[in-house]
Amino acid sequence: MDSHPEALKFYTVTNGPIFSTFIDGANRRSIATIAARSTNLGGLRTVAQADIIIADDKLRPQAVELYNAIFRPKRELEFFKRRFLGRYNSLTLIARVDDRPVGFWVGFELKPGMFYHWLGAVLPDFRRKGIGRQLQEAQQAWAKDHGYEYVRCECMNHQREFVHFAVTLGYDIVGIRWDSTHADNLVVFERNLIE
Ligand SMILES: CC(C)(COP(=O)(O)OP(=O)(O)OC[C@H]1O[C@@H](n2cnc3c(N)ncnc32)[C@H](O)[C@@H]1OP(=O)(O)O)[C@@H](O)C(=O)NCCC(=O)NCCS
Repeated sequence: MDSHPEALKFYTVTNGPIFSTFIDGANRRSIATIAARSTNLGGLRTVAQADIIIADDKLRPQAVELYNAIFRPKRELEFFKRRFLGRYNSLTLIARVDDRPVGFWVGFELKPGMFYHWLGAVLPDFRRKGIGRQLQEAQQAWAKDHGYEYVRCECMNHQREFVHFAVTLGYDIVGIRWDSTHADNLVVFERNLIE
C-alpha cells in the first residue's frame, strides 16, 4: 500500500469553519480554510470534536479494527490491501475523539475526476454526533485538493442510516443496481465538489 507523501495530515473540523491542517514534523499549521459548515448543529444533539487523521501504513490496522467492531464478516488487513491493488490515490481516514479511534472512512480514485468513497462507519456509541459528517467533509476536502470534481458512494438499500446521511449531506441519488452478492439493491450517490 502506498503511504502519503504528506506523512500525516489532519483535517480538523470545528463547529465553525473547517480547517485543513497538516503536521510538519512537530509543527501543526493551518494551511487553508476549506469551507464553512453549512448546517445548523444547534439544538439538543451533542457534536463531538474529532481529529480526522490520514492513516499511513502504520495506522491502517486501526481502521481494520474499527471495521471489525462494526461489520461482519470480520476482515484482515489483507482484504483492504487487495481492494487497493491497482488503485490510485487510496485514502484512509480515521476519526479520533480524545485520542480514541471512533470512526473510519476509506476511498480511492474511481476514474479521473471522480473519487470513490468505498467504506466507512462510526462506532455505535459515537453516532449522531457529527463524526460521519466530519469524516466525509475531510474526504471531500482532500479529494477537492487533489483535483477531483465528484465523489461517488454506494450503500445497500437496507442501510438506511447511510441513505439518510448521504441525502442530508447533499448527495444526489444517481442510480440503483442489483447486487447479487448481498441480494439487495445498491443505491448510488454522487456529489459535485465544484458547484
Ligand atoms: C452512516 C453513519 C456513518 C453516519 O455516521 P454519524 O457519525 O452517525 O453521522 P452524523 O452524526 O455526522 O450525521 C449527519 C447527519 O446525517 C443524518 N443521519 C445520520 N444518521 C442518521 C440516522 N440513523 N437516521 C436519520 N438520519 C441520520 C442526520 O441528518 C445527521 O444530522 P443530525 O444528527 O444533526 O440530524 C453511521 O450511522 C454508521 O456508521 N452506520 C453503520 C455503517 C454504515 O451503514 N456504513 C455505510 C455503508 S459502508
